[in-house]
Amino acid sequence: MDSLVEEIKQKFKPKIRPIEWSGDKLVLLDQRLLPFETKYVEARTVVEVANAIRDMVVRGAPAIGITAAFGMVLALVENRPASVEEALKTLAKAREVLSKTRPTAVNLFWALDRMYNKALELASMTSSVREVKEGLEAEAKRIFEEELEAEIRMGLYGAEILEDGSTVLTICNAGGLATGTGLGTATAPIYIASMLGKRVSVIAPETRPWQQGARLTVYELVENGIPTTLIADTAVGLVMYKRMVNIVMVGADRILLDGHVFNKIGTLNEAVLAHEFGIPFYVLAPTSTIDTRSKVEDVKIEERDPDEVRTVRTSQGKVYVTLREVAVYNPVFDVTPPKYITGIITERGIATQPLGINLRKLLKRL
Ligand code: MRU
Repeated sequence: MDSLVEEIKQKFKPKIRPIEWSGDKLVLLDQRLLPFETKYVEARTVVEVANAIRDMVVRGAPAIGITAAFGMVLALVENRPASVEEALKTLAKAREVLSKTRPTAVNLFWALDRMYNKALELASMTSSVREVKEGLEAEAKRIFEEELEAEIRMGLYGAEILEDGSTVLTICNAGGLATGTGLGTATAPIYIASMLGKRVSVIAPETRPWQQGARLTVYELVENGIPTTLIADTAVGLVMYKRMVNIVMVGADRILLDGHVFNKIGTLNEAVLAHEFGIPFYVLAPTSTIDTRSKVEDVKIEERDPDEVRTVRTSQGKVYVTLREVAVYNPVFDVTPPKYITGIITERGIATQPLGINLRKLLKRL
């Protein structure tokens, strides 16, 4: 597989660059405005990075992790600590601020832990703040590069499962916008199968309330030449009943060792329906999305602004579709129990049932 991974890395020219690092700032594609406007937001401080994550300028589990990792570097650029001890204090504060942005995607906490641990390691080896900053910058770049490599690998595993002529049902946006690389997790098999000459098309549900499917997935798939059909979320059952899809591929914000998968609200509906109709249901995520510590009840499902449900986002901005005062419940993720999942595809291979045993085995593989 290694030579194929290298070949794809060389060939793959992302059409969309949601995250760019330029030494002293992050340049983020503002995903709140897509597909109507292509505008970039610059983040130079920890608070600007935190706001960009919280307000969904950048979103999607791996992209949030990568952005937060560069946020840790910016903490040193911004605060110019005088000593390594001060640098560690600055980083601890930055980690605290960044960790409060979004609660569900584990990649955020994974990336912050990795960056802070790297800082501790560097601090034990040098008394130069400049060397700590350079070491952290290199670590953030490595996290970004490893993400692309992981996506190529899971894309190759997933592409093998896709037959010529397949139609994939997805949800939300688990594409290149959500990971920062331009390739994505759930979309990686689709792009790679199509690079390898298979015809693959996609059915994308709009994904209310934030409409990641309609606004982002449709945009990036069409931009990459993949035949795509948009459906209302409520049409998912019918497209399965009518066998208009052969397979479901979704991303994940957090995967527990027992196989429970936290992902965009509506994933559970797709999984239960796929189970009922005998349609294979796959989750694609890098191993950085696997939370080896938590139980289902420990994971906080984010609830966002009620106005996300009361309004729709249009090219003219947000438009109310209901009473402004109506009570709203707006959980933006759900949890899918392992019994509904055919397999979890990671860069280390595919874990199939029983997930509780096979995910652990997969994590032991290099
Ligand atoms: O609220 P969002 O847009 O950050 O949610 C994104 C998702 O749920 C994705 O499916 C998940 O993060 C995987 S991204 C490869």
